[in-house]
Amino acid sequence: MATYGTWAVIAGASEGIGAAFARELAASGYSLVLIARRAAPLETLAIELRALGREIEVHAFDLASDALESELRTIAATHPIGLVVWNAALSVMAPFLTTPLDQHRRMLDLNTRGPVTAAHVFGESMATRGRGAIILLSSLTAFWGSAYLATYGATKAFNLSLAEALSIELGPRGIDVVACCAGATLTPGFSSLLAGRKGPRAMAPEAVATQTLAKLHRRGAIVPGGFNAFAQFLMSRLFPRRLAIKIMAGETRKLLPR
Ligand SMILES: NC(=O)c1ccc[n+]([C@@H]2O[C@H](COP(=O)([O-])OP(=O)(O)OC[C@H]3O[C@@H](n4cnc5c(N)ncnc54)[C@H](OP(=O)(O)O)[C@@H]3O)[C@@H](O)[C@H]2O)c1
Repeated sequence: MATYGTWAVIAGASEGIGAAFARELAASGYSLVLIARRAAPLETLAIELRALGREIEVHAFDLASDALESELRTIAATHPIGLVVWNAALSVMAPFLTTPLDQHRRMLDLNTRGPVTAAHVFGESMATRGRGAIILLSSLTAFWGSAYLATYGATKAFNLSLAEALSIELGPRGIDVVACCAGATLTPGFSSLLAGRKGPRAMAPEAVATQTLAKLHRRGAIVPGGFNAFAQFLMSRLFPRRLAIKIMAGETRKLLPR
C-alpha cells in the first residue's frame, strides 16, 4: 500500500483467482472496487471483506460490453486506484471451426480490448500520481500456440506481450506492470471444465494471488508455482517449439468436452 496507494480495482472478482486477489488485498489493508456480471456473489464477497474494516464497492456489469470504457472512467474519476487486477476472461475449449465466430469475437473483446482499456484508463491517473501497479492475468498458454484453445491462447499471448512492453514503458513513471502466467488453477471455471475427470496438477487460487503480489516489483512475466515455472522453462528452452505445441495440444485434447 505504501508503494501503490490504498484503492485497488479487480475486474472479474466474484470467484476463483479474482476473489483470491480481493481477499489477499483486503487483508493487506486495501479498499476495493469489485467488478463482475453477477451482483449476488460480489455482494457476498463485499460483506465478508467489509467485516475487515475495508471500503468495498460493487459494480455489476459486462466487461465485454460497450459500457466498458465509461464504467472504468467513472471508477477512475471517483477513486484513487493504485492497483488494477484484470482477471476476467472468456475461455472456450473446443475445435476452432466448430466454435461460432461470435464466441471468438467475445474472447477478443473481454480478453484483449478489456485489459488495453483498463491499462489506459487507470494508467493515466497512476502516471500522474507517479505510482501504481497493473496485473494482467495471462496463462501458460501464452508461451505456445494452444490447439483447441487457439483464440483464448492467442489472447493470453497478447496480455503477456502487452504487460512486458508496458513494464518497460510505464516502469520509469512509477507503474509496475506484470502478466501473471498461471497454470491450471482450481477455480469454479476450471472445475466445471474437468466435469469430474482427473485433470492436470492444479494450484489453489490463493497461491496464485499471493505469489503474484509478492513478485509485483519484478515487472514482466510471473509464472506462479515451482512446477509450472519448471515446465515453462523446460518446454520453452529445451524442446523444439513445434514439439512443445504438439505436447500441449495432446494434453488439451484430453480435456475436450465429451
Ligand atoms: N483457472 C485456470 O486454470 C487458469 C489457468 C491459467 C490462467 N487463468 C486465467 O485466470 C483468470 C481467472 O480464471 P478463473 O478460472 O478464476 O475464471 P472464472 O472462474 O471464469 O472467473 C472469472 C471471473 O471473471 C468474471 N467475469 C467473467 N466474464 C465476465 C464479463 N464478461 N464481465 C464481467 N465479469 C466477468 C466472473 O464473474 P461473473 O461470471 O459473475 O461475471 C468471475 O468473477 C482468467 O484470466 C484466466 O484466463 C486461469
